[in-house]
Amino acid sequence: MEKLLVTGASGFLGWNLCRIARDRWDVCGLARRNQNQPHGVELRRVDLTRFKEIRKNLREIRPDALIHAAAESSPNFCQLNPAASHVINVEATVYLASLCADLRIPFVFTSSDLVFNGLKPPYNEDDPVCPVSVYGEQKAEAERAVLERYPRALVCRMALMFGDAGQGGTSFIQPLINDMKNGRQINLFTDEYRTPVSAANAAQGILLALSKTNGIVHIGGLERISRFDFGKLMRDVAGVRNAKLNACKRQSIEMATPRPPDVSLDSTRAVALGFKPGPLRKELERLACVQELRDSVT
Ligand SMILES: NC(=O)c1ccc[n+]([C@@H]2O[C@H](COP(=O)([O-])OP(=O)(O)OC[C@H]3O[C@@H](n4cnc5c(N)ncnc54)[C@H](OP(=O)(O)O)[C@@H]3O)[C@@H](O)[C@H]2O)c1
Repeated sequence: MEKLLVTGASGFLGWNLCRIARDRWDVCGLARRNQNQPHGVELRRVDLTRFKEIRKNLREIRPDALIHAAAESSPNFCQLNPAASHVINVEATVYLASLCADLRIPFVFTSSDLVFNGLKPPYNEDDPVCPVSVYGEQKAEAERAVLERYPRALVCRMALMFGDAGQGGTSFIQPLINDMKNGRQINLFTDEYRTPVSAANAAQGILLALSKTNGIVHIGGLERISRFDFGKLMRDVAGVRNAKLNACKRQSIEMATPRPPDVSLDSTRAVALGFKPGPLRKELERLACVQELRDSVT
């Protein structure tokens, strides 16, 4: 089996990637401090902002391919800490791409739909980037620099993802689940749209793209949906009849970070490669965390 190195292996996407990749790859994960170890995967502690450590670990592990899923992934943190987040989101990313270019092994960078301003959806790979937040700017800068340094690299622009997250990981549905369990009111926008994709599907899409192509590929779901409608779907799938969903407009809530209204991704290119994201309802039904929610309310 070839060896796949996954950075951010303790994070939400990395944990899911490790789970799915295990069938075909000998997977090794890197994480900074989190204990969220994917089952059956060796996890090494490495701070990716310490470049010497990266180089040393790559020499020891000798991977055949690397998927970079580590990031400072909170747009609010990036907005408030642009310098600190730049080191991991841009500098470490470009450094990893350079090492992979030198080693001549495939490199995958997980970027984001937030490189777009959300005014002209749906977005395909040829649309110019136009971020509205520091996080989006950092992702766009890293994409550019990675492809400049290593033109054969793969940039996967990920849509909003949801799914099981292991012990300590989280996606945007875990807080929704907690609020539903605890009967709290949940404010959800009716005028903010995404093309969410389950992390399991997203991981399959990344691995498929890694085996078939390079350049930029969009990995999103096939359904464009508002945050509010997604919440309603989850409520229905989990059978939480008394969930307190409050429909609201973006302008009614003050936000620390500018957010694009509609960054729906056109994933035709990935679909042409064989990417098959499932219907949202089916993907939600499959999740252990949603099944637990259903069990807790029945
Ligand atoms: N989640 C989404 O909906 C979404 C949407 C679009 C794009 N993305 C992109 O997809 C990728 C994965 O996102 P995610 O949601 O899985 O993020 P996440 O859950 O926040 O995980 C981030 C991972 O990065 C690691 N990390 C952060 N700083 C590090 C450092 N200095 N050194 C080593 N590791 C470090 C974390 O390790 P520790 O936990 O050990 O600190 C963690 O394993 C990111 O590139 C993100 O921008 C995510």
